Amino acid sequence: MPTPEITRPLVAVVLAAGQGTRMRSAGPKVLHPVAGRPMLHWVLRAARRAGCEKILVVVGHGADDVRRAFPGDDLVWVEQRRQLGTGHALAQAQPHVAELGERGDATVLVVYGDVPLVRAATLKNLAAAAAGHWGAMAIADLADPGRLGRVIESEGGDLERIVEAADAGPAELAVTRINAGLYALPAPAIFDQLRRLDTDNAQGELYLTDALGHAVTDGERIALHPLEDPSEAFGINDRADLAKAHRELLERHMRRLMAAGVTILEPARTAIEPGVRVGAETVIHAGVSLSGDTEVGEGCLLHQGAWIRDSRLAGGVVVEPYSVLDGAEVAGGCTVGPFARLRPASVLESGSRVGNFVELKKTRLGAGSKASHLAYLGDATIGDGANIGAGVITCNYDGAEKHETEIGDGAFVGSDTMLVAPVRVGRGATTGAGSTITADVPDGALGVARARQRNIAGWKRPKKK
Ligand code: UD1
Ligand code: CA
Repeated sequence: MPTPEITRPLVAVVLAAGQGTRMRSAGPKVLHPVAGRPMLHWVLRAARRAGCEKILVVVGHGADDVRRAFPGDDLVWVEQRRQLGTGHALAQAQPHVAELGERGDATVLVVYGDVPLVRAATLKNLAAAAAGHWGAMAIADLADPGRLGRVIESEGGDLERIVEAADAGPAELAVTRINAGLYALPAPAIFDQLRRLDTDNAQGELYLTDALGHAVTDGERIALHPLEDPSEAFGINDRADLAKAHRELLERHMRRLMAAGVTILEPARTAIEPGVRVGAETVIHAGVSLSGDTEVGEGCLLHQGAWIRDSRLAGGVVVEPYSVLDGAEVAGGCTVGPFARLRPASVLESGSRVGNFVELKKTRLGAGSKASHLAYLGDATIGDGANIGAGVITCNYDGAEKHETEIGDGAFVGSDTMLVAPVRVGRGATTGAGSTITADVPDGALGVARARQRNIAGWKRPKKK
């Protein structure tokens, strides 16, 4: 009997070759996004954080796409050409595990690629539970065990065998203790057991679960490790499952943020991706979405429908309803929206304001400057304390190239000014409303470029015949 020691290397084998037919998708199941990342990302993250020395990923369906989605060099890719079952999938990892140590002795953490809610601490605890036993597996007691494998216990409370739902009789289906699909198993012994598997079951597959049953028949003991949080056992088999796992990952993160002092008024109607940082005393209303590499400072107020991705907001920023911020940087005390759009490389300096139906792209708006209504500001640098009137447009694109607009400190750009770039409006300069500015306006000057008004007295409007 192999004696598991703490010094045995810990390797993870992630089984991710299946197609997941119930997803009704052309692509591989494990690439479907959950909480902003491919499902497999979350499993790999847990394996990395559990301190695995090596992570092997068994891929098959859409193998090239899966490999491309995870370019990290800490992963070893193993191909399972035909998906003959979970036992067959694990067996493909054998040559790679055998390279470890002198005799290929290792503790193998087996994780299915479709269980994104698994936590690193659980994997660590599972490996610890295996010490003193041949191996360990995670279990949960579920009110509705559905199609999950049922765990039949020995009198001593260890594993006796696992029965797949498809093979279970009524008495076995009534068992509510399920196989979570997470195992800590001894190598090379597990590979010897896998060689003995047959396909004599309802699905005609080589079941990994049967290998555990055979080890028990051989007199080995397999510890049952109950999950503190049974949601970790949740495997994604269809798109309804996907929606549930997505929600759970977002809510876990929102619970952490709330515990750290963030107000989230309606978490069930809010989407904050794991990885998004939010400062204390920030208040987040319903319908807010925060994603990607986003950081929100302390004491901000995010109103309904704010959609923010890959953006940085300093403290005390107010985002009014239905504003979109994508790749923006917003300094302290700014106000954005309602209905504003900040596109990539928009920078708002402290205390500046962007109002409704204003779009910014690659534009810096200086401290205390305002663009309050209906404007397009692209490829522009705007100084401090400037006022951009309603309807101002930087005509930055000539059909071939983009050109820059520069607006000096304290400038007043009149309503409906067209700024035909490249062009500069000087410091303290003014443009007359409705002007099409094609030449630079010097510092302190007024630039007017529009037809003089002509009045025709007693004008008769045409009449309908
Ligand atoms: C499996 C377990 C079941 C457990 C459940 C937990 C077996 C036989 N059954 O059932 O006891 O309750 O998980 O979620 O293990 N895979 C491969 N190659 C294959 C087959 C599967 O890589 O040839 C991968 C799949 O991509 C998937 C994982 O293994 O990520 C699990 O396979 P799946 O068919 O979903 O197993 P379940 O029927 O859910
Ligand atoms: Ca599954």
